[in-house]
Amino acid sequence: MGSNLLKFHLNIIPNFLLSLLLSPSYQNVSSQKLPPPENPTFAREQLLLNPFRTTLNQGLTCGQLIVSRGFKYERHFVTTEDGYILQLYRIINPYAQAARGRNLKPILVLHGAPTSCSSFMINGPGGHIKEWINGNPPHDTSKSLAFALANREFDVWLGNVRGNVYSLNHTRLDPDRDREFWNFSFTEMGLYDIPAMVDYIIQETEKIVYIGYSQATIAMLTLLAKHPEFAIKLDLNINIAPIAFYGNTNGLSAFVPRSILLSRIGLLYSGPLIPFLPFVDAFTSILCTSNVLSSICLEIYNYLFGPDREMVSRDQIKELLSQLDQDSFKNALHAIQSFKYDQIREFDYGPKKNLELYGSTKPPKYPFENVPTYNLVLISGLNDYLAPPVNIQKLRNILQGPALVDYVITWPLWSHADILLGDKAFYYLHSVIIEIIRKYGDNEMVLENAEAEWIAERDAEVKEWEKITKMCDFNPKPNQKGAKDTSRIRSLLVHLKQNPPLESA
Ligand SMILES: *[C@@H]1O[C@H](CO)[C@@H](O)[C@H](O)[C@H]1NC(C)=O
Ligand SMILES: *[C@@H]1O[C@H](CO)[C@@H](O)[C@H](O)[C@H]1NC(C)=O
Repeated sequence: MGSNLLKFHLNIIPNFLLSLLLSPSYQNVSSQKLPPPENPTFAREQLLLNPFRTTLNQGLTCGQLIVSRGFKYERHFVTTEDGYILQLYRIINPYAQAARGRNLKPILVLHGAPTSCSSFMINGPGGHIKEWINGNPPHDTSKSLAFALANREFDVWLGNVRGNVYSLNHTRLDPDRDREFWNFSFTEMGLYDIPAMVDYIIQETEKIVYIGYSQATIAMLTLLAKHPEFAIKLDLNINIAPIAFYGNTNGLSAFVPRSILLSRIGLLYSGPLIPFLPFVDAFTSILCTSNVLSSICLEIYNYLFGPDREMVSRDQIKELLSQLDQDSFKNALHAIQSFKYDQIREFDYGPKKNLELYGSTKPPKYPFENVPTYNLVLISGLNDYLAPPVNIQKLRNILQGPALVDYVITWPLWSHADILLGDKAFYYLHSVIIEIIRKYGDNEMVLENAEAEWIAERDAEVKEWEKITKMCDFNPKPNQKGAKDTSRIRSLLVHLKQNPPLESA
């Protein structure tokens, strides 16, 4: 056993070197004439990564990713109330603009931690811009959410929270010198970043649709718990892999020591969580390109997010790694505290300072019962290790009533990051998001096009899909108060595992 393990380890190094030699560099990338990186951190990463690059998306900036698919973009800078200068990317689709003028529905899409705007553009090489047909959107099945939306009647804005390399500027603080710059967690992203971004976008338009994923759902739900009136600015408040309760996580996060003391001591360090980011990203991305190591990388990924081997292949992990971004150390500490406390609370500074800041020795819980449900959309997966069904149920239980839409993804193994890398992400998720926005998003545009036909055809063909959709709809019947039935989730899970949904297209 021991000597086998040793042999295995000894094998890794030559294997890795060999696989580097053998892996063909990605010819199309250099010939594609991308603009130079508009972000200095990724410019540095690309210098290290380029000789070893094997896929298009590795280490590209958000601007380069958008341009690589034939879209154009604008960059907008938004200042938060507390001085952080955030960068928004707006995807410009000339076909959509020609067909609809300024009548495109604005959507703000916000990433999880520790990533950036690039999250929703790295699922495979596809997602190229498509022409509109007779003034109607094309039927595009891009696996990358941002491009699936941008090819349709939507005005897509990709946000970046404070501290990632797109949002490192501040009116007063310097991230390299001032510890105070890094004194934030998801609480501040909710309290300041989301309002700044939303208010900026709605200056020009009316309401917007918000799509938040993972950390962005924590930020939104903690914001609304304290300021429920903010919901008025949103047509729809879509939360994918929603997190308001953080106990009961599975996989690697279950092994994170839950000591509150430890997380307070951690406050002695204040700075970015991934230091030397360009080097770390390039190095791990190259490492996970090799044949041997890529399987190990995939296993780590699986035990972090939930294994879904049919949806995510080992070739994709390197793309995600090349796009990892930085975050504050304090944000990670706040997450670790939340694992312990379950219902997310304000940051725990220890009894003395808590008393001073909050008037109680323990940090107060966020009152999620205040989150408005009239425009709330919850989308969750059954095999999500970081937002598992039991935690979604706790959120349902604390809300005042059922969410407008409460959708459970019909692929039984759907895990936390399938939205980013899932092979069938369009079929199981993006198409559902699009249908929800069209149905509920105050959108009068009628679908008289090929796509409407495709949807009708698909549903006729795949009756099973419709059936499961109904089962997955946790909206209780009118006179039923609150859906407090965890056993229903269990039976749903069993049913889906025994009868996986058929899949067309
Ligand atoms: C940061 O923001 C300030 C104030 O808006 C601006 O003058 C400066 O050029 C910005 N720096 C960078 C690197 O974008
Ligand atoms: C961080 O913020 C907290 C709460 O506002 C404050 O009490 C603390 O002094 C700040 N720490 C630093 C290093 O700025």
